[in-house]
Amino acid sequence: MEFKLLPGGDITGEARVPGDKSISHRSIMLGALARGTTRVSGFLEGEDALATVAAFRAMGVQIEGPEDGRVVIHGVGLRGLQAPDRPLDLGNSGTSIRLLSGLLAGQSFNSELTGDASLCGRPMGRVIEPLTLMGAKIEGATGGRPPLKIHGGQALAGIHYDLPMASAQVKSCVLLAGLYASGTTSVTEPAPTRDHTERMLRGFGYEVKRDNGVISLQGGGALQAMAIDVPADISSAAFFLVAASIAPGSDLLLTHVGINPTRTGVINILQLMGADITLRNPREVGGEPVADIRVRYAPLTGIEIPADQVPLAIDEFPVLFIAAACARGRTVLRGAEELRVKESDRIASMAEGLTTLGIRNEVLDDGIIIEGGSLGGGVIRTFHDHRIAMSFAIAALRAEDEIRVLDCDHVATSFPGFDALARGLGLQISAMTD
Ligand code: S3P
Repeated sequence: MEFKLLPGGDITGEARVPGDKSISHRSIMLGALARGTTRVSGFLEGEDALATVAAFRAMGVQIEGPEDGRVVIHGVGLRGLQAPDRPLDLGNSGTSIRLLSGLLAGQSFNSELTGDASLCGRPMGRVIEPLTLMGAKIEGATGGRPPLKIHGGQALAGIHYDLPMASAQVKSCVLLAGLYASGTTSVTEPAPTRDHTERMLRGFGYEVKRDNGVISLQGGGALQAMAIDVPADISSAAFFLVAASIAPGSDLLLTHVGINPTRTGVINILQLMGADITLRNPREVGGEPVADIRVRYAPLTGIEIPADQVPLAIDEFPVLFIAAACARGRTVLRGAEELRVKESDRIASMAEGLTTLGIRNEVLDDGIIIEGGSLGGGVIRTFHDHRIAMSFAIAALRAEDEIRVLDCDHVATSFPGFDALARGLGLQISAMTD
């Protein structure tokens, strides 16, 4: 599938983007391991979250839905999973494989985790290392890549782990293994990362402490089922925050968006660039902060992105680079080497597309320098990365010519219905299949 985009337009109206991917994954995982029935609304019916659903079904968990964002999970308790009779295929989903490796390290049965070509190229040494220190037995393929073979029946012991990189997936993996470990499992992180696992564990009645930056829990407890209302994903909202900011005449209201402070780097960075973004009706829903976000066109200026915002905006950089391309002056990003090991190498993928559109940029090992300018048209490669595809679709609002974005199938991993929603708000997009 390809996107074809006519240049220009503005982004106006009101929309609720699909549910948060990180929270959707965790709702299935913790719901499956709880005692009782967990009811989820606002669930993301994207391929990544559906891969997590399929994995738990393959381990004997009864899950109804999703239907209109509603899922009912009949929890089996921490010790109730059954051995899957085949490898668990997690598709494109890094969150599924890394969190599940922690959970499965503590089971009595063997398991194997695999995924698509992109996932099988991503580093898993970062989870194999701490899990091995806890007593798990895991083998990866060459270079610590998937597939991962996990040998069950190991007695795990709690450890303290200093995360070498800011990664919520690694943090969550260690904490979830800690549910099955003796004693205390604790982590410190080099910078705060999304804390949905900690919040949701507490919601399920499991104590998670945070003292002086040390996050810890005791093994051997139990989870009690709860109701979960998944907010709209700020990572999906980000495409429209940038879209309305760069397209003259835009005025957009995005409703019920999750604004967990570990996720709001995109808003902070856009505001530093001069964006007109205001939060309305802030409220708390099931332990997660939520608000409606109004965004209106405003001229943007290039900035040096503050280092402390990098982990808080890690998934939003592709579309922030489009904002930088439309800004006056230079934007500098450093300290973002993690972008190189996402669904694609997002520094290289974005640099190639920006160059195609005539935007001058300099690639750094850990970031990029982008000179704002005028965007032409062209044919863009996405490297099968959903966020690269959607970012270049948004760029069309300020392009002088037509943009064709190749290989857009993976958009459905995180944002099913992106093209229809974007069209309804004013993007001149058509999806073409051959
Ligand atoms: C996620 C953590 C982040 C993020 C990913 C979702 C999560 O990955 O990029 O999209 O749900 O924990 P890292 O932990 O690799 O930074």
